[in-house]
Amino acid sequence: MLSIATAQTFQPNYEEANVGNYRLPEVLQTDKGKKITTSRKWEKSMRPKILAKFAEHVYGKFPGRTKDMHFTINSVDSTALGGKATRKQVTIFFTKAADSPSMDVLLYLPNQVKEPVPVFIGLNFYGNHSIQTDPGIQLSERWMNNNEPYKVVNNRATEGSRGAQASRWPVEEILARGYGLATAYYGDLEPDHTEGWKTGIRTTLQEELTIKPEEWGAISAWAWGLSRIMDYLETDKQVNAKQVAITGHSRIGKAALWAAANDQRFAMVISNDSGEGGTALARRNYGETLERINTSFPHWFVSKYKEYNTNVDQLPVDQHMLLALMAPRPLYVASAEDDQWADPRGEFLSAKHAEPVYELYGKKGLGTEQMPAIEQPVGEYIRYHIRTGKHDITLYDWQQFLTFADKHFKQVAKA
Ligand code: GCU
Repeated sequence: MLSIATAQTFQPNYEEANVGNYRLPEVLQTDKGKKITTSRKWEKSMRPKILAKFAEHVYGKFPGRTKDMHFTINSVDSTALGGKATRKQVTIFFTKAADSPSMDVLLYLPNQVKEPVPVFIGLNFYGNHSIQTDPGIQLSERWMNNNEPYKVVNNRATEGSRGAQASRWPVEEILARGYGLATAYYGDLEPDHTEGWKTGIRTTLQEELTIKPEEWGAISAWAWGLSRIMDYLETDKQVNAKQVAITGHSRIGKAALWAAANDQRFAMVISNDSGEGGTALARRNYGETLERINTSFPHWFVSKYKEYNTNVDQLPVDQHMLLALMAPRPLYVASAEDDQWADPRGEFLSAKHAEPVYELYGKKGLGTEQMPAIEQPVGEYIRYHIRTGKHDITLYDWQQFLTFADKHFKQVAKA
């Protein structure tokens, strides 16, 4: 592992010429060198093996739900956002204990749609109250990273934190297009710092889930929470649980991918600027590297991942294989021009190398060898864009995701 001093002086490579030569593990080739040629064989033998490799070498285990998990609907307001939305706030309790570990879910549903709606689901970085100024949203009382502009003081949100990340959550646009939105604070599952596991579900649920804290990383814990939101959505009659699109930005985009790899109830997968340990190919030396991410964020992955710090070529998987686990579900990968740290080209190539698995299902992927120009999305079942601007999730990104969902979910509805 890099020493702290080395990490501080880490010089990322941003020259395509210095990316280095690498050979990706073939997504459709077994360890014995046999080629997989049908979707049946992929599902029966190859897919489970790849999933198990990601669990062992990268993210750790992904347990099922707890036996005594239950939901409490705290509030339903059908006059939210000027009457446009129904706002529900639901707490998911993971055990039956009075002090059960829990997670607070915020759900907005569009009032103009009378039938069960498709829903976007994603975790947020600063509490449910940060996604909208809506005063009816319960203010999170959990630990969160201090942030002056967001008015997070002494690791707690304040009234001034409301709507701090509203630009990342265009709720009105999502609702106007007939979709619901479900979100929860990722820190409800595990506070995002190296000691966070001590108070997060990796510790508090270890007996319930019969899993030791070191058997999974924070990304897996966050991903697990996404599946629990899905458990709730399946019980909500106003939601079309067959049309849930899982989304996530950056580290939460990594978690979204891992959740969707394990849980195929998510019918569409969207990863925004998820970079290293997300969509970007690990073997490319560009921007953030495997060694660097393991040094800065040692709690995100299992300790075995660190064994590849200086020999990424030995890693039995690469991220295109994670993307292949989404097949045949529609997958959207988004990058940003100024987010070179996340390696946009590595994100594009990863999507590209996932295509053979989509082809087994007769589904067209990106349909191009070339990285597209700025703000020229490409692809059918795998879609990709790179927009102008920095590491962020913007209205432009959401508009593309909504259009992608319109295309695929309406096709399903018609079939
Ligand atoms: C850091 C980290 C990335 C991560 C990002 C984020 O930049 O190095 O891997 O995706 O934070 O979550 O915003």
